[in-house]
Amino acid sequence: MVNLAILISGRGSNMEAILNFAIKKKVVNPVIIISNNYDAAGIKIASKFGINIKILPNLKDRKMYDKKLEQILHKYNVTPKNGLICLAGFMRILGEGIIRKYKNRIMNIHPSLLPAFAGLGAQKQAIEYGVKYSGCTVHFVDGGIDTGPIILQDIVKIQDDDDHISLAKKILHKEHQIYPKAINLFATKKLIIDGRTVKINDSTLRN
Ligand code: GRF
Repeated sequence: MVNLAILISGRGSNMEAILNFAIKKKVVNPVIIISNNYDAAGIKIASKFGINIKILPNLKDRKMYDKKLEQILHKYNVTPKNGLICLAGFMRILGEGIIRKYKNRIMNIHPSLLPAFAGLGAQKQAIEYGVKYSGCTVHFVDGGIDTGPIILQDIVKIQDDDDHISLAKKILHKEHQIYPKAINLFATKKLIIDGRTVKINDSTLRN
């Protein structure tokens, strides 16, 4: 089974959705939650699940941070062979080394339809741009910011009276659905990765 690490910095609602999925479906084994923030609300949620939690506070030296991160991952047997790392609101950029080692084994969720509105404040960017639809994207992490191969996306219609707060709420609801779905596809080996294109070998997801 795939050993799963979830990296958080804050609220942890995606982490919670993933943990609920993991308990129900039993296709991944969540072994460790790592937070770079002592005050992350997600830590309390994680402790209710009885899962191991490590706090790895930010360091200026990115290489040193990633080295410590890798040590934790190895300790919990989340390896480049059997592991999956899910970034769930993790507000820190990982370095090239760890991304290369765990190629196509690090996922992230972003609250927009990438490649539109990458980076911070994606929902605000969408509102200010005046788009009629936005959504969320689960992607593999590569060396760029929100640029890696796209696994799943879902859309949200923006109404005239939406602001970035109401939009964020609608998008979050979809995030909680597609992140577990993407993990399930990964764990059940249904993702076919060809360069930056990810195809899904699952007829039930076609529409
Ligand atoms: C989500 O909107 C996610 O798309 C973004 O950060 C937020 C994390 O929320 N990357 P939560 O901590 O999972 O509740």
